[in-house]
Amino acid sequence: MKKVILTLTTILCLSAIVRADEGMWIPALLQRNEAEMQAMGMKITADDIYSINHSSMKDAVVLFGGGCTGEIVSEQGLLLTNHHCGFDWIQKHSTVEHDYLTDGFWAMTMEEELSCPGLTAVMLKNMVDVTEKILFNITDETTDEERARLVKENINKLVTAEQDRSEYMVSVESFYQGNQYFLMYNEVFDDVRMVGAPPSNIGKFGGDTDNWVWPRHTGDFSIFRIYKDNKPYKPDYHFTISLKGVEKGDFTFVFGYPARTNEYLPSVAVNQEANVVYPVVVDLRTQILDIYNKYQEKDAKVRIQYASKHAGLGNGWKKWMGVIEGIRNFKGIEKKQAFEESFYEWCQKERRRMIYSRVLREFDAVYAEYEKYRMATTYLTEAGLSIELIDFASNFTKLADMTKDTPQEEIDELINNLRQATAVFFKDYYQPIDEEVAVTMLTAYRAAQPEDFRPEILNEIDKNFKGNVKSYVDYLFGKSILTSEEKVVAMLDNFKPSKAKKLAKDPAVVAFNSMMDFYIEKVLPKSKEYNNRINNMRRVYMEGQMKMIPEVYPERNLYPDANFTLRVTYGKVGGFKPKDAVTYRHFTTLDGIMQKENPDIYDYVVTDRLRELYEAKEFGRYADKDGSMHVAFIAGNHTTGGNSGSPILNAEGKLLGLNFDRTWEGTMSDLVYDPSICKNISVDIRYVLFLIDKYAGCTRLIDEMTIDE
Ligand code: ARG
Ligand code: ASP
Repeated sequence: MKKVILTLTTILCLSAIVRADEGMWIPALLQRNEAEMQAMGMKITADDIYSINHSSMKDAVVLFGGGCTGEIVSEQGLLLTNHHCGFDWIQKHSTVEHDYLTDGFWAMTMEEELSCPGLTAVMLKNMVDVTEKILFNITDETTDEERARLVKENINKLVTAEQDRSEYMVSVESFYQGNQYFLMYNEVFDDVRMVGAPPSNIGKFGGDTDNWVWPRHTGDFSIFRIYKDNKPYKPDYHFTISLKGVEKGDFTFVFGYPARTNEYLPSVAVNQEANVVYPVVVDLRTQILDIYNKYQEKDAKVRIQYASKHAGLGNGWKKWMGVIEGIRNFKGIEKKQAFEESFYEWCQKERRRMIYSRVLREFDAVYAEYEKYRMATTYLTEAGLSIELIDFASNFTKLADMTKDTPQEEIDELINNLRQATAVFFKDYYQPIDEEVAVTMLTAYRAAQPEDFRPEILNEIDKNFKGNVKSYVDYLFGKSILTSEEKVVAMLDNFKPSKAKKLAKDPAVVAFNSMMDFYIEKVLPKSKEYNNRINNMRRVYMEGQMKMIPEVYPERNLYPDANFTLRVTYGKVGGFKPKDAVTYRHFTTLDGIMQKENPDIYDYVVTDRLRELYEAKEFGRYADKDGSMHVAFIAGNHTTGGNSGSPILNAEGKLLGLNFDRTWEGTMSDLVYDPSICKNISVDIRYVLFLIDKYAGCTRLIDEMTIDE
């Protein structure tokens, strides 16, 4: 056993040397990576990428809409991001007469660019290490509670003081699980307008079928523009576009806003995620999606109504299946265990390292106890609240609590909001789906969660419906007024506090309250307690790893988990071998779109215009030197959710494409990164420009870009 572990450790150690692809680096500290990046082929400097003394690439990268990344590509604030990142805005601007989702949208003049109230672009101006300031009055003797209080207090003090002095938005962000803190200065742009989007059968080509999958053919881009004082924003930097394309082995880097990763978890936690939680979520979502599919296939209206819900559930569903398989096939848990073994050995060498080995040992027990609460939450959100009627009822609990003492304005405002929520809900509601989901989910919920640790409503099915879930669901949907838009509107029209009691007895409101009561009384307090404990333990374990890794694996560069802050990641272009006998090339072409074309399958419809351009080979200067139109490519950049829309850049820092996804086999990269299998997917910028220019004829946008032929 020992021998096996030692060999694994050696492999880990060796792979650390060649594992340049792993890591999401803090741009302000990029000097540390410069030599390696240049050795891999980069021709520019870390200072070109991030500088606070002169304009640099960071001045052209923004957090788009709070969850994606965008990049500036002209002197007039023109911004590129993914189609799926702009999707909500394309949808919001669409009407029956102007269906931009279906037909695409192209502002042929600046006047035609559409404002998007609420949409922001956030740009990092400066970041400063303030760890000492945040942790200055904390010692080894400080208790966890005291530490949390002091950290909060120190952050507040610093932010308040800095905010007074700064024109930018100031915040403090925690890195390495609370072992390092940075003060961040961000400029917030709140006038971002929609400029262009291809039709969905280009921007979403392959749909949910191809989602997370390579080979991929999605033209996943949309175009916006930042305005400041009602004028196009003049950025300090904008990206030059390269039309040279990529070759296997080329150096690339991705600059963007990865949201969350957990690369330093102990094996027991990875095991809980990948082998306990995700399988349940996947199983529940499979059942729901099967029901959606059945009805969506039968009825075009239902297909549209459930398209976005389907995409939302389906994205995580597919990803987590990939994580489960990836962790298994690439021995994620075993690798973590081998690391823990060597960590343990390292701890034994000095007395004062005992605090780390103790915490490592304690993880097993804490995660074992936590599992019960984790699963209770999982069933609540994934089974209970996926019943749309019960989720909808959550909107009405406040109204059901109104008394004759509630001020009338408060009631009026609430009713107003409820009217809107009601219209939104019923626009996309199909009751037969929901009833079937309810039967399936409540059955699964009851089977999995013990009688003494689940919402009372699940036990009442035994008492009042002889354990027959279907009878309960018939009663729930038959008796609740919340299944009927007409009845809800009438109830809102005639609402008086004296009617609140009746609303509180509505079976859907009762069901929701029962689930919430259980959660708030039995699950939440304990979950919080465990989460706090686990977070403290992870902080200590991280601190240990930060000391151990440089000593034991000196060639391995540590990086903090993603936390929605700007990062740089780099790797080389190249295909991979997902399984025995299968090899993937690193790029796809328009030929592949034509091969997938199927007018009868929604995800694979090709417009006449695109087919014509393909047949005439009208690719102009956007064709690859092999003569074909390249659509997407993969490389070994360590990305995650939030990196969508990020610029992928070449050795000279010129724009090659837009990152939009990862390969399914490598989705475990949020927990365990394996360079042989974890690849990011980008749309080729030449395909984007071809669509803007040749497909849409929106040449004014091409004209304002800086293009390197
Ligand atoms: N999987 C990508 C991400 O996590 C793209 C999702 C949008 N595309 C889709 N077909 N649903 O965001
Ligand atoms: N598709 C993801 C996003 O929207 C990117 C990823 O998870 O790789 O950010």
